[in-house]
Amino acid sequence: MREVAVVGIGLTEFGEKWDTSFRNLFVEAGANALEDAGMSGDQIDEIFVGNMSGGRFVLQEHIGALIADHAGLTKNHIPATRVEAACASGGLAFRQAYTTVASGMQDIVIAGGVEKMTDVGGSETTDALAGAADREWEGLVGATFPGLYAMIANDYINKYGLTREQLAMVSVKNHRNGAKNPIAQFRKEISVEAVMKSTLVADPLRLLDCSPVTDGAAAVILCPMEMAREFTDTPVKVLASAQATDTISLHDRRDISTLDATVAAGRRAFQQAALTPKDIGMVEVHDCFTIAELCAIEDLGFCAKGEAGKLTEDGQTALDGSIPVNPSGGLKSCGHPVGATGIKQVAEIVEQLRGEATGRQVDAEIGMTHNVGGTGATVVCNILGV
Ligand code: COA
Repeated sequence: MREVAVVGIGLTEFGEKWDTSFRNLFVEAGANALEDAGMSGDQIDEIFVGNMSGGRFVLQEHIGALIADHAGLTKNHIPATRVEAACASGGLAFRQAYTTVASGMQDIVIAGGVEKMTDVGGSETTDALAGAADREWEGLVGATFPGLYAMIANDYINKYGLTREQLAMVSVKNHRNGAKNPIAQFRKEISVEAVMKSTLVADPLRLLDCSPVTDGAAAVILCPMEMAREFTDTPVKVLASAQATDTISLHDRRDISTLDATVAAGRRAFQQAALTPKDIGMVEVHDCFTIAELCAIEDLGFCAKGEAGKLTEDGQTALDGSIPVNPSGGLKSCGHPVGATGIKQVAEIVEQLRGEATGRQVDAEIGMTHNVGGTGATVVCNILGV
């Protein structure tokens, strides 16, 4: 396997993007990544696009070809493939691009992700997202995503004595970080009291415990390490890219408040990189709901089970803490365009490791991403370093 580097990153602003189309969102992110790498579209050998539900949200399938066409990449008839693993589609697109370059199959590959979720109403969005869980045994009996994560939260609270305030502190910290991120959907700080008084969505989760519904796109460009300095003075090396699966239904799990796929993907990533959690300087985790961030920190091994609430309360996951978690603002404040999130996480690590994350810069040389599909049926972890 060859060593692989990320040499370009591009993002759109995240939020409700009424003034642009699905295809234009991706093209904007892709063009930004090409500009960042100082290369032209003609140099791209292959493209992978993470997208969860174009068919439901914008009535569009055949996303790989659509994106290649509108990005002006069909002249050379390059391969373009849509990658789908629910909310982990972006992370998986990155892994596909990584293995394609590492294997020697292609040299310059774009990994991107895009979702335009706000063109349909709230109930249709909730129903489309329910397709990430088990439609037959969960969705059809009324389990929504907030409902499933509320079950995880209640189980966790009963087992580990997490306080409602500690849960709210996850959101407060992520909004504090997101307020400093120019692409974030919600660039405003909030208080613990505001979280605890926000509308109840699925007990105990309230509006400000939930990631929002978001339009947005992200793209990164990978190439062999030996070519990287042709494009950038600050290549960021991919140290590991690991994936794991678990049962799609929450009720089939051994323990619903431990995501075994996170444990497995994390361990594989650490093994590939020959690192341990102590070596990681920052992590972008999949905080689709506040409880998900706490489970992720523990399941990846940054603290013992049941301790993430205290770690958050003590400020150890803040920008200046011992393990900064979600400097981008996470899914909660930056937004969660489901197919794009895994790529945005990689872009955030690259920006941080280059020292370009103005206002929210952390002190790190190695960063990790953690991207979850469904309630943990697919997990992708990447580790990057300089
Ligand atoms: N965080 C903060 N503010 C939010 C928000 C969120 N998650 N979601 C909506 N808002 C704000 C809106 O900006 C709006 O503010 P305004 O009145 O000042 O304009 C207000 O709350 C109402 O927005 P609306 O779109 O009507 O909210 P909603 O009730 O339809 O949706 C949720 C709220 C929580 C149900 C929705 O965001 C949701 O389903 N989130 C989870 C998404 C999900 O499951 N993703 C996959 C996870 S793996």
